[in-house]
Amino acid sequence: MKTKESWLCSECGDVQAKWVGSCFACKNWNTMQRFVEKTEASSYAIKTSRQAKPIPLDEVSLVPFEKTKTGLEELDRLLGGGFVTGSLTLLGGDPGVGKSTLMLMLADLFCKKGFKVLYISGEESIEQTTMRAKRLKISSKDLYLFSETVFEEIKKEVENIKPQVLIVDSVQIVYKSSIASYPGSVTQVKEIAIECMHIAKRMHITTFLIGHVTKTGELAGPRVLEHIVDTVLDFEGDSSQGFRMLRAHKNRFGPTEEVALFQMTETGLAEINSPSEVLLKERIKGSSGSTIIPTIEGSRAILVEIQALVASSPFSTAARRASGIDGNRLALLLAVLEKRMGYHFHNLDVFVSIAGGLKIKEPAIDLGLLIAIASSFANRPIPLNTLIVGEVGLGGEVRSVPRIDVRIKEAVHMGFERCILPKRCLPKKEHAIELVGVERIEEAVSLLIG
Ligand code: TYD
Ligand code: MG
Repeated sequence: MKTKESWLCSECGDVQAKWVGSCFACKNWNTMQRFVEKTEASSYAIKTSRQAKPIPLDEVSLVPFEKTKTGLEELDRLLGGGFVTGSLTLLGGDPGVGKSTLMLMLADLFCKKGFKVLYISGEESIEQTTMRAKRLKISSKDLYLFSETVFEEIKKEVENIKPQVLIVDSVQIVYKSSIASYPGSVTQVKEIAIECMHIAKRMHITTFLIGHVTKTGELAGPRVLEHIVDTVLDFEGDSSQGFRMLRAHKNRFGPTEEVALFQMTETGLAEINSPSEVLLKERIKGSSGSTIIPTIEGSRAILVEIQALVASSPFSTAARRASGIDGNRLALLLAVLEKRMGYHFHNLDVFVSIAGGLKIKEPAIDLGLLIAIASSFANRPIPLNTLIVGEVGLGGEVRSVPRIDVRIKEAVHMGFERCILPKRCLPKKEHAIELVGVERIEEAVSLLIG
């Protein structure tokens, strides 16, 4: 069989004819891996190609997708109603975040719906997976565990058992013995994903691939598979903290950018139906450097606490640390505070974080973050019943933010009594909360800190 050699970036999937040290597209180093393509049509391609003909659009008969609800409310909302039968989903995340735990829980839920599930536990022995299942209180006769890494063997068992759901844990450990490269290489991972796509579509098996996100390029990251699969779910969260966020990064059958929140407990992952309540539970009352902001995640608002600590620095170069927030954004807000408010941070360490270990990217948290820093700087707590929202510009102006009504509604729901927001965003509609519009950061600071 004729083959063609090319080099593929394991981080972004860019293809080059020759090896290069740093990827031209994503600029990562040592991520190019050899990829051998067959130039003749492979055997499975011939088997699956039907005698398809082009059809005029108006003659296409539409059969609605058959979706299966998992029973996990948050997850079903994230997916837009459940998993589509015969779809291929990639679940990506850092090692230890809880991918195997989530998939085992899903396997159990599918079994409860009367489906047969085949769980390929290539990374762990049957005993390890069984112990995890015991911890999660899962026992089902329709859940088949198979500790195997050779793809050909897995395929045989799939044809034998004929499950409705197939879970491959993980795509980086399974390999085809007919391909020379090692498991986890771009060639292997792509080939396994394409094979699983054919299994999913031809046999109508809802298939899940678990993939580790790696930055080193050692194993092919899930990013090279994104275009092959139907749905990409990202599982994020600090493994040392309890909260986990599941995001639909790509979804051919439903919405994207929705998030579902989970909490890792002793007995598995628990859904968080009202995130604001859980996230604000541990708030210390009357402490300086703490503000509450309403942030938008997907279609809803979540109230989160931002914490800042400004302390004198024992070293000549002061530290700036941000967790859950972009470090550049922090530097910018400090500069704005120095320039517009006359604060001096040059001999002060500044630490900021989002309570609960969440990550927030939207600039609507700027004003809340700035006030948290100012509050810690002045050592004056912010009134407990107040929340703050607004983007801050370089000139110290408070800029408008999208979807203010959703944010205010959540604040009212959580019992807040006052909201500081950009003046331009003041809604015409009455709300059961005092709304204070501000145009500049000075107004907000003098209002809250004095
Ligand atoms: P795991 O699902 O193995 O992560 P991944 O497959 O993404 O590598 O689980 C990760 C962590 O979760 C592990 O350190 C133990 C913890 N855990 C719990 O806290 N509670 C539980 O019920 C389970 C099963 C795991
Ligand atoms: Mg695992």
